[in-house]
Amino acid sequence: MDGPKDQSDTLDRMLAAAAAARANAHAPYSNFKVGACLRGDSGRLFAGCNVENAAYPMGQCAEATALGALVAAGDKRVLECAVVAEGGRLTTPCGGCRQRLSEFAGPEIKVHICDPEGPRWSVTLGELLPHSFGREHLER
Ligand code: THU
Repeated sequence: MDGPKDQSDTLDRMLAAAAAARANAHAPYSNFKVGACLRGDSGRLFAGCNVENAAYPMGQCAEATALGALVAAGDKRVLECAVVAEGGRLTTPCGGCRQRLSEFAGPEIKVHICDPEGPRWSVTLGELLPHSFGREHLER
């Protein structure tokens, strides 16, 4: 188990879950639909989409939606992340979502940046968010 074939099967399932969530995105203001899928420490997958609001700052990113589902279901750690969007450029998680993920993930986890056709770039959270602020900074 957990060989290259299992890993690519898992990524396929993550992409499918993220794409399915993306189809339900509520993005009437930006018309930019995003889906995300997180693999939690239980092995379960949690998907989310962006949920915008007429009061623009109240909108929520797909990663935040997926993270809320993971935490609500009782998982404690994020082991892998996939983000699916479509556009002229690859959609990397926003700064706020990088920070959100870092609360539950180490710098070594893979973040797969995808378009609807598949993964385009796999990067670590540490590469996306170097020198991050974490709970250890609160120790005095
Ligand atoms: N968005 C996400 O959901 N995730 C990202 O990684 C980037 C941006 C959303 C927020 C907003 O609803 C729309 O995309 C345009 O910024």
